[in-house]
Amino acid sequence: MTVPTPDFYTSIHKAIRLAMSEFLVTTGATDPADPAAWCEVEERWRRIKSLLDAHSRHEDVFVHPLIHRAAPDVAVLLDRQHEQLDSGIRALDSAIEDLAGNSNSEVRRRAGRDFYRAFSSFTARYFDHLAEEEASAMPALIAGIPWDQLFAAHSALVGSLPPEERLADLPLIARSLSSPELIGLMAATRSAASPAFFAEARRIMEGAIGEQAFARISSALDRAA
Ligand SMILES: [Fe+2]
Repeated sequence: MTVPTPDFYTSIHKAIRLAMSEFLVTTGATDPADPAAWCEVEERWRRIKSLLDAHSRHEDVFVHPLIHRAAPDVAVLLDRQHEQLDSGIRALDSAIEDLAGNSNSEVRRRAGRDFYRAFSSFTARYFDHLAEEEASAMPALIAGIPWDQLFAAHSALVGSLPPEERLADLPLIARSLSSPELIGLMAATRSAASPAFFAEARRIMEGAIGEQAFARISSALDRAA
């Protein structure tokens, strides 16, 4: 059996790219002067914000100390990017709040257009940051930190997540990964989590990717059992 290469980023970064891309499209296609429709944008923004906040926190706690050991210059750059992106999130959040508190249609439309443009620029910076982590940080970690320590840090990160948070992120992850990646994820879940958690993860994944696509994952999993 091949030993998987340590990887902190691929799954969650794909999920984040999917969430941000979909949110950008939804925001652009929604009339900010229609409060009922814009509510959906506000609700989705809250979910994106909590996904990004959690992701940044997990990296700061479990991954960045290792990057500081393996490649201090890369770590300094990524720390600075995290600070800039965190302040970008705060600025977007207050823009959403200001818009929600205004009832003038013209003002709401202008503010909605500005929010869409600001989120688009933020997304471009965020995607660059993700690519930087994948291209610079992960190879430096693989080269500079013993693999057992990388796997231990990854397990600690996953172990720190409440089960309901892992399950809540699963539909996004399921829709963003390729089938071999999904099979790998579910096989790892089966070997590490409780049967009840695994059953719930299967149910959620089937709901997210559809019966047909899930049947292929499921039979590959059964063959690998
Ligand atoms: Fe990051």
